[in-house]
Amino acid sequence: MRKTEAVAVGCGDRTTVYCEEGAHNLGLMKIVAAVDPDEVRLKYMRDRFGVPPQMCFKHIDDVLKMGKIADCVINGTMDELHKQTAIPFLRRGYDMLLEKPIVNNRQDLAEILAESERNKSKLMICHVLRYAPFYKKIKRLISDGEIGEIVNINTSERVGVFHSSVSYIRGKWNSEEKCGSSLLLAKCCHDIDLLCWLNNNTVPEYVYSEGGRNFIVPEKAPEGAGTRCLVDCPEEVRRNCIFDVQSMYLDNCKLPWYPWQCTGKDWREVTHEEKVDSLKTYNPHGACAYKIESDLADHQQVTIRFANGSTANHTLLLACMKAGRRIWVTGTRGELEGNADDGKLYLRKYDKATSGYTEQVFDFADTRGETGGHFGGDKGLVQDFCALLRGEKPSVSCTAISDSVNGHLAVYCADESLKTKRPVVFRKLEEI
Ligand SMILES: NC(=O)c1ccc[n+]([C@@H]2O[C@H](COP(=O)([O-])OP(=O)(O)OC[C@H]3O[C@@H](n4cnc5c(N)ncnc54)[C@H](O)[C@@H]3O)[C@@H](O)[C@H]2O)c1
Repeated sequence: MRKTEAVAVGCGDRTTVYCEEGAHNLGLMKIVAAVDPDEVRLKYMRDRFGVPPQMCFKHIDDVLKMGKIADCVINGTMDELHKQTAIPFLRRGYDMLLEKPIVNNRQDLAEILAESERNKSKLMICHVLRYAPFYKKIKRLISDGEIGEIVNINTSERVGVFHSSVSYIRGKWNSEEKCGSSLLLAKCCHDIDLLCWLNNNTVPEYVYSEGGRNFIVPEKAPEGAGTRCLVDCPEEVRRNCIFDVQSMYLDNCKLPWYPWQCTGKDWREVTHEEKVDSLKTYNPHGACAYKIESDLADHQQVTIRFANGSTANHTLLLACMKAGRRIWVTGTRGELEGNADDGKLYLRKYDKATSGYTEQVFDFADTRGETGGHFGGDKGLVQDFCALLRGEKPSVSCTAISDSVNGHLAVYCADESLKTKRPVVFRKLEEI
């Protein structure tokens, strides 16, 4: 089978995950060119994926001026660069795998959709959870009518202390002003997409949201805390602080590519001394989590009312002890309850014999390790994208942009509601 040829644009964490799945694990893709202003990332693309040196570029214009040199683009640039790096490639007729969030407002969303339609580009959004076997099973059970009509979907995402710190408190998504994304857009556009996808016999009607930044704020810092852990925060204060950088980033760092990105070196090559020095001086991850400048919420709840009368709720919480995603789908003839992290999904039906219920358990725990990131979603997404480009029928999970806009629009409504403290009427993209 001919391999799908791809240009990797923004060769950081996410793009290299998709390249790894496509080129190495699935053997379906060939990475023919790479674009990234960072030489360290380009070297990685040469070493890991055999991209020829003359096909590694610092600016997208260098590739664009060569015409269309591949089937598609894998666009894993940061949130605020999606529009400016996606549109020129769509104009050149490239198909594209584009990271979420697509963009942060409805006008840009409409522009990207229109550009992909005008050029007949297949544009798929990286809503990886739709491809996880756990969520695919939920979709199939609902589509097969196992629980009747959906009455309510209730989901939650609890982000662990470490992940919250490294991404949303001290990390590169910690400012809506700088990165362009609210907490909900950056973290849970996946979950709101799931609510719309699972219930896509209908559309959102209005959205209400509550929350804010109330707990990870300067006033709630431990008494006597400094502004930089390793510089002016007394040891006895740090000992009781859950955000202490010594334990979080030096003793056991779970996502090591994030906190050392700002050193400008490949994270694998950063020495202990360089880490300590960065945390003491310029590294934002060394700052006090309570006092660092950040404009994101630390907790948020969203309620969606759909046009058919059903409802959905999503709760997003930062700095939780046990992280994870949970879901309850209540239908007129049954219900589903599951925890994506332990891979257990329960299907319950009313039992006339006992006036209780019967329960069937589906267990995805065994397949999670083998199938890779996002409960297996990363691999499934790349596989589906390559199949779509080969002209095969889109799968039920297919995250084509046209089928991904409602989730994004609902997130915009939720964030507007958070600010205005009023329910916001959902308008489809084509409505003014
Ligand atoms: N689907 C998911 O579940 C998921 C998970 C995490 C992150 N994301 C999203 O993926 C995207 C990338 O996140 P990441 O953590 O991989 O980021 P990253 O910082 O690791 O990678 C971004 C890369 O883009 C490069 N870059 C900067 N300016 C550029 C330009 N003008 N042209 C080309 N490249 C440029 C940077 O040098 C960097 O290497 C973000 O939008 C993020 O929100 C999605």
